[in-house]
Parts: sequence; C-alpha cells; structure tokens
Amino acid sequence: MFVAHLVSFYFSKLQEDPTKKVDRFLHAMRLNDDQLNELSARFQAELKKGLSAESNAAAAVKMLPTHVCSTPDGSEKGQFLALDLGGSKFKVLQVKVRECVGIKKGDVEMEEKIYPVPDELLTGRATELFDHVSESLKDFMHEKNISLEKKHPLAFTFSFPCDQSRLDQGTLLNWSKNYKARGLQGKDVVQALREAVERTEGLDVEILAMVNDTVATMMTCGFDDSYCEVGIIVGTGTNACYMEELRHIDLVEGDEGRMCVNTEWGSFGDDGALKDFLTEFDREVDAASSNPGKQIFEKMVSGMHLGELVRLVVLKMAKLGKLFDGRVSDALRTKGKITTADVAAMDEYRNGLKNTKDVLDELDLNPSDDDCIAVQHVSTIVSFRSSNLVAAGLAAILTRIRQNRNMGALRITVGVDGTVYKTHPQYPKRLHKVVRRLLPECQVRFVLSESGSSKGAALVAAVAQRLTSLRRQVSETLSLFRLKEEQLQLVKARMRSGLDAGLRSKSSSTIKMLPSFVYLTPDGTERGKYLALDLGGTNFRALLVRFKKQTSRLYHKIYTIPLEIMQGTGEELFDHLAQCVCDFLDYMGLKNTRLPAGFTFSFPCEQSAIDTGTLVAWTKGFKATDSEGHDVVSMLREAIKRRNDIDLDIVALINDTVGTMMSCAHEDQRCEIGMIAGTGTNLCYMEELKNIEKIEQRATKTEEKTQKGEKNENAGAEKNKKDGEMQKMCINTEWGGLGDDGCLDDIITLYDTEVDQNSINQGKQRFEKMTSGMYLGEVVRQVLLDLTRRGLLFKGHVSETLKTPGIFETKYLSQIESDRLALLQVRSILQQLGLHGTCHDSIIVKHVCLVVSRRAAQLCGAGMAAVVDKIRENRGLDHLDIAVGVDGSLYKLHPHFSQVLKETVRVMAPQCDVTFQPSEEGSGKGAALIAAVARRKRDV
Ligand code: BG6
Ligand code: BG6
Ligand code: GLC
Ligand code: GLC
Repeated sequence: MFVAHLVSFYFSKLQEDPTKKVDRFLHAMRLNDDQLNELSARFQAELKKGLSAESNAAAAVKMLPTHVCSTPDGSEKGQFLALDLGGSKFKVLQVKVRECVGIKKGDVEMEEKIYPVPDELLTGRATELFDHVSESLKDFMHEKNISLEKKHPLAFTFSFPCDQSRLDQGTLLNWSKNYKARGLQGKDVVQALREAVERTEGLDVEILAMVNDTVATMMTCGFDDSYCEVGIIVGTGTNACYMEELRHIDLVEGDEGRMCVNTEWGSFGDDGALKDFLTEFDREVDAASSNPGKQIFEKMVSGMHLGELVRLVVLKMAKLGKLFDGRVSDALRTKGKITTADVAAMDEYRNGLKNTKDVLDELDLNPSDDDCIAVQHVSTIVSFRSSNLVAAGLAAILTRIRQNRNMGALRITVGVDGTVYKTHPQYPKRLHKVVRRLLPECQVRFVLSESGSSKGAALVAAVAQRLTSLRRQVSETLSLFRLKEEQLQLVKARMRSGLDAGLRSKSSSTIKMLPSFVYLTPDGTERGKYLALDLGGTNFRALLVRFKKQTSRLYHKIYTIPLEIMQGTGEELFDHLAQCVCDFLDYMGLKNTRLPAGFTFSFPCEQSAIDTGTLVAWTKGFKATDSEGHDVVSMLREAIKRRNDIDLDIVALINDTVGTMMSCAHEDQRCEIGMIAGTGTNLCYMEELKNIEKIEQRATKTEEKTQKGEKNENAGAEKNKKDGEMQKMCINTEWGGLGDDGCLDDIITLYDTEVDQNSINQGKQRFEKMTSGMYLGEVVRQVLLDLTRRGLLFKGHVSETLKTPGIFETKYLSQIESDRLALLQVRSILQQLGLHGTCHDSIIVKHVCLVVSRRAAQLCGAGMAAVVDKIRENRGLDHLDIAVGVDGSLYKLHPHFSQVLKETVRVMAPQCDVTFQPSEEGSGKGAALIAAVARRKRDV
C-alpha cells in the first residue's frame, strides 16, 4: 500500500502539471507588463496618427470625430425614442430624461423591447435590415401606445464605424462584427434610416443624433459621474471613445474645448502593428472571418472571437496529443462550438472546473480531470490576454488624456459595457487591476453602464435638440436678411421710380439725381499737371496727376481726418484740408505754383456749374456745422485764402462716383457709369440731357431771369444744350437716399432701424445704411447683440465690446467672411476684437456677416439693374453693352460682394451686359481729368 502510494506520488511528479503545459504552449498569449507597456506605446502612436490630417488616411485606428462636445451636465431633458443596433441585441426604447431641479440630478426612465434580427438580414440587403428596424420601431410604438401621428425625436445607437460630419449624419466606413448587409457601406446611415421610416406607413420620427455605442456608454455613465470621459465596450466587438482636445482633432475645425473621439480601436493592428503579438490561432480566426485582415485587435479581444480562440487552441493541443489522449471530436472541429459564454463559465471561480467538464462533455471529448484543468487554463489565458490588451489600450488613452491636460495625476472614470465585461466573472477585476498597475499615477474608476447605451444616446439627442432649436432661432433671425427675387424686383422698381422722380423734381425726391455738369467722358487729349483733392472716403488724399501723351503719373499722400474735425465746424474742417494741401504742395516742392485743381467731394452737392456746389447734407460720418447749404468750393478757397501761403485754381468740383467713372472711362470709352461701394454707396451715370427735366425747368427759370436782366448761372448748360453739342450729362444719383420716404420699410429689419436710430443722420440714407461699409458692421453688431441677449450666442453674455459701436470695420467683415480662413482664424479675429466665444459662436458670427453683406450686394445689384435698364430704354435698345467704373473698400476688399453684385445684375437686367472695371487709381485721377477738360473748355 505504501509502495503503491509512493509510485503514484513519483508518477504524478513525472506527469506534467496541466496548467504548466498550457502556459508553455500558450506563452505567446501571456503578456508581461513590459509587453503591455510596449503595446500601450504603439497604441499611443496610433492615436496620434489617426488624429493628424496628414496621416489619418493611412491610419489603422480611425479616430472618428463624433461631434459630441460635452458630457452630460444635468440640463438635458425630453422624451425620446431610441434604437440600439449593432450589439448582441437589437433594442427599441423609450427614454424620458427629466431635467434636474436644484442640486438634484435629473432622472431617466426607460422602457425597452428586444427584437430579434434574423441572421439573413445581417448579410442581406441593407434596405431590408433597416425596414426591419423601422417596423420594429412601429411595433414598439404601437405596443407602448405612443402616438403615431406626432413627430417623435429619436436617438440612434449604431455600433459601427461611421464618418460623421454632424450628429445627425454618418457614412458607414465598413461593417464589423457579424454584420455585412449590402448597399450601406459608403452611404449615410441616418439617411438610410430616414428612408426606411418613410417607407413605413404612419411612422414619423426626427432622427436627432446617431452615436456609437462607446459614446453612448460614456454619456450614460457621465450622467451620474462627471469624471466619466472615456467609454469602452468589451462585447461582441470592442472599442473605446474618449474626450480629446479639439485642437488635436485635425479633421474638425476649432481649437477650443473637447470632442469625443470614437477610436475604433478594434482595427488596431490592421496595418501589421501587432504582427509580433499575433499567434497562429489569431491568424486562423482572422482567416476564417468574414473580414480577413480587418479588426485584428478586436479579434484578439472581443466576445465574438474568444470562444473560437479557445476552441482552436484546444483543437490544436488535442491534435498534438496534449489533451484528451489525442482524441478530437467532430464537435471540436466545428466552428463556433465553444462560445464566449462557455469561456466565461469555464473561467468561473467556484464552478469553473465543473463547467469546463460540461462544456467538454458537450463536445463529446470525455475529458480527464487534467484535461479539464488544462482547458480551463486555456480559457483563462485567452480571456486574460483580452483584458490585458484592453488594459494596454486604455492605458494609452488615459496617458494621452493626462498629457493633454498636463496633469501629474489624473482622476477619471471609464464607463464600460458589453457582454464580456458584464458576464465574464473575472474580467472586470483583472482589467481594473492591470490598468491600475500600468498607471499607478492615475485614479481610475470603472463604472458599468447599467442602463445600456440608449440612455446616453438620448442625452446626446437632448443636447442636439437644444442646439437644433438654437440653430432654428438663429436661422429665423437671419432669414430676415435673405431677400427673395420678388423682393429684389420690387427694390429695382422702386429705384427706377426714384431715379425718374429725381430727374423731374429738384427737391422732393429721396434720390436727388444731382447734375454734375460733366458732359463728356475723356478723349485722351488731356495734358498737363493737375492737383486733385479727394475727401469723403476712408481717407483724405491729395494727389498730383501728370497727363502725358499716352500715360499719366500719379503722386499722392494720405491724410486722416480726426473725428473731432469731421464733426466740428465747417471752418475747422476746411482749414484742416487747406493745411493738408499746403503740406502736400510743400512735400512735392510745388508750394509756389498755382495749379489747376479738381476737388472730389464725396457728398451730395447741388451744382450750378462744374466749379460750384452747395452741400445738400452731410452723409456717412461727417457732420461739420455751418457747411450744409454752403458752396464747398468757396469754403475751400476761403480756407486757402486765410492761410495766405498757397494758391490753387479750383476748376472742378466732383462727386467720387463721377471721378471714378471718368478715371475708368480714360481706359474704356464704354464706361458711362460710376459706382462706389465703400464707406458710403452711390452711383452716377450718363443721362440724356433731354430727360433731366429739372435742368429744363431751371433753364426756363433762368431764361426768365435773364429776360429780367439777372445773372444766368446755367448759361453753360443751356448753351450746350441749345447748340445740340452735348447730348448727355453725368448725373450723381445719390441713390443712398432710397427708402428715406419709407418705400423700403417692408425689407428694413429691426436691426437696420436700430443702426439708423444710432446714426448721426436719423431717417436719412436708408439704402446706404443697408449697403455700405460704414454700416454693415453695425448691422452685424446689432444682430449679434440681439442673438446674445436671447442667449443664442456668447453664452448669453453681452460684453462691453459688443456694446461698442463701430467695432466691426469693413476690413474685419471681409476677413471673417473669407473662404480661405479657417474657423480658428475667425475666432482669433473675434478675440482680437475682444469678442471671446467658442468656435460655435464663430460659425454664427460668420453666418451673420455673410447674410448681411450678401443682402448689401444684392440690393446694390437690384439698384444697378434699374440704372442699366433705364439707360437701355433711353437709347431704345433691346440689348445694352456697358461698362461701370467701380471703387470702394467694400467692392475691393470683400471676398464675395463683387461676385454677388455681378450675379444679381445679370439676373435682374438680362438685356444688359454689364462689365465692372475696378478703378485703379481712385477718383483722384478722374477729378484731375475733369479739371483738365474744364480748364480746356474755360480757356477756349
Ligand atoms: C449594450 C449597448 O449595452 O452594449 C449596445 O446598448 C452595445 O449598443 C453593447 O453594442 C455592447 O455589447 P454586446 O456584448 O451586446 O456587443
Ligand atoms: C476712392 C475714392 O477710390 O474710393 C474716394 O478716391 C472714394 O473718393 C472711395 O470715396 C470710396 O471708398 P471708401 O471705401 O474709401 O469709402
Ligand atoms: C465594433 C464596431 C465599433 C463598436 C464595437 C463595439 O468594433 O466597429 O463601432 O463600437 O464593435 O460594439
Ligand atoms: C455717400 C455720399 C455720396 C458718395 C458716397 C460714396 O453716399 O452721399 O456722395 O458718393 O457716399 O462715397
């Protein structure tokens, strides 16, 4: 007996410990901490690669932006339907999220029903799969007595990789796990679901958000734990998401705050990065899968593959005689015969061995006790490797978050879900332990997502709903600026009647139609040296223009006019101009020369001759006293006289539109219109003298006067007209006054009214206030103020900056609207202006700028269409070919204004071909040309 015992003891010593045998056989699956750290480092490199715009295309780990930018804050509310497709179960749910009251967290109520998805639908046509989803939704609503008539908001958990540009859009990159339905890859999944819903009679839902299950899990757990910024799934598939800094997500504009990134870590290794960690069993699992070469990490980790890995190992060991005395059953040879549930059961602490025996008996393997111990150990190693791999991945993500935030220690919560994590008895413990060992400096809490992902999806939808409502309100506000073609036709018609009325009446028309006494466009014979002064645009300029045979040369100096001078007394203003002229002549070495001068004065002047003009009213930012009703040429002459150190021969007073037209006409004889879209807006054009009724009236009156022996101030015009020499005269329309009689009230918004009320010329220049550089920024500011007050912008915070008039100069508007500017740069411009907002705020600001400037360009286009059609009709033509000289900072610097203007003219004046010629040298050259012509005529 004793001997027998001894023999048995000796024999058992000789016989190998079954676990050691397995350890040796599976040594490649047993990962030590060095290997895990190495894996974690590789994984970190993958995260970077996927985030960068340059390497994303080639990256295996796709790092998909989710457009989920915040974790729950308790303010979410609403009642949602939810669909949950892609895990082991397809569910339809109703989720009610109640807003929190005070410090209490809101709560969530859920009802759900699981609907089976027949296998053939997983691999059939995607439309059929989605029809099934939609029908199930309908059935659920019916069962829960949810009205089918109302439009219900819906949240969709779709657990596959999708490239999302918005929350409610997502292109399926590829199927994973056991799904392979045809016709959806590369298509918008939300759209596919919408179409299925449309096909389902009586069903009406609004899909607000589509989220990956990882994201939904993070949100679910985040509802109770605000530190939850990571979500992982270890279920049928495996994946992780986390809150990444927006500045690191190249594929999304913006640099502020965070966005959740769906890593799709299941595809880690698809580019060979895990080659040295793969075993022959992993290769076999991959080769036999429906997507070979894909989801390599997932195939080492997730529930869909763990059972199969165990089966392949056991099969191989059996074949090598290391198990079951070399016996292999048909069942063991059959794919799928060991499931993940089996692996979980075998790994159980108390009943594991018994469970293993049951599993092996099921497989007709008739195992010995050692076989059971060995197979149980195989399943432990396989599932331990899975949790180790997940730990390494998670360590990479947590390290990245810690580095992103520059923190020594990180306190963070990881939300987890998935059947493996939930049902495998040892899995969570092992995972937590390894993560904490790999990252001793992090305080990591793991929270199981008890209520599944739909709660989180509903929370995302609740935020989306709030944003949609925000967007809708912003869009409704901006729609006030979107003019329909009929409205533009009305503007054109009103402009036309304004032009006609202005030609008839001397004083009562809002469009003044001021005769300029410029009859001719230049003929190229102009010679000599001229001085030009240019007041009324952004700057005051003094110029010297020299006309030679074919060429002209231009020298100029820019002077600023301080606000106190613009709005001081007339005498001070003109003294200042005289001072600038003196400085310029001195600078040019011409102080003692009496040069002929053209004076561009960009304000409405009632002229009685080319060299005199009474200021009708100041416009734009000028308001110098004692000037309106006075002859501005005399005022300048007197100011020069007061100095007594220079002399000028002012031969022409012209508006900037006229100067611009002349300047361009010097290059192109077809140029018979001048337009300014700058600080102010205005247009001049060559009108038939016979149509300028007020000159007729004036002529008659002067004739009467002459008969009475009074001085004939219009002698030139009348003589020319009588002689039939001059057929046309340039008319300065002063179209900026359109609407001053209320004729634009139907399109004038409350913001325009506000701008008008705050201006120095209330009720005047209404068209100009909707179209020109001096006011567009103010209109934008008024809209921003209103949106902010309504809580739709800048978090509802009305800053002092925003309350400051004039912060948006045209140049900023132009920069903000530039297509070449990334959102980040827009945000930085706003920051320079003192407007600190999020990227989302920047998008809204940009939209506001876009609609305001587009309306400006369209209104000018409608006005221009009225003018060119009038010229065409004047000439009795079916078709008019004409050129317009244009100038002004809005036209020249704004990225879209000129394009929209041209397009509007094209549509609204189809019988005219209008060529726009930007004036190269400003209206100063035009002023000099007019001076040359005027002097020639005077001297003749
Ligand atoms: C569930 C989610 O809780 O977890 C699913 O609602 C998700 O959407 C799943 O896919 C992951 O686990 P499994 O094991 O079902 O794939
Ligand atoms: C310039 C003219 O070229 O354009 C000015 O010379 C004119 O007289 C100006 O007023 C209009 O542009 P802005 O943008 O300076 O008002
Ligand atoms: C697969 C999917 C992924 C999902 C994961 C868990 O890896 O590609 O989107 O999150 O499974 O369900
Ligand atoms: C204002 C002036 C006008 C000028 C225009 C462009 O509208 O009234 O005379 O042409 O601005 O500068």
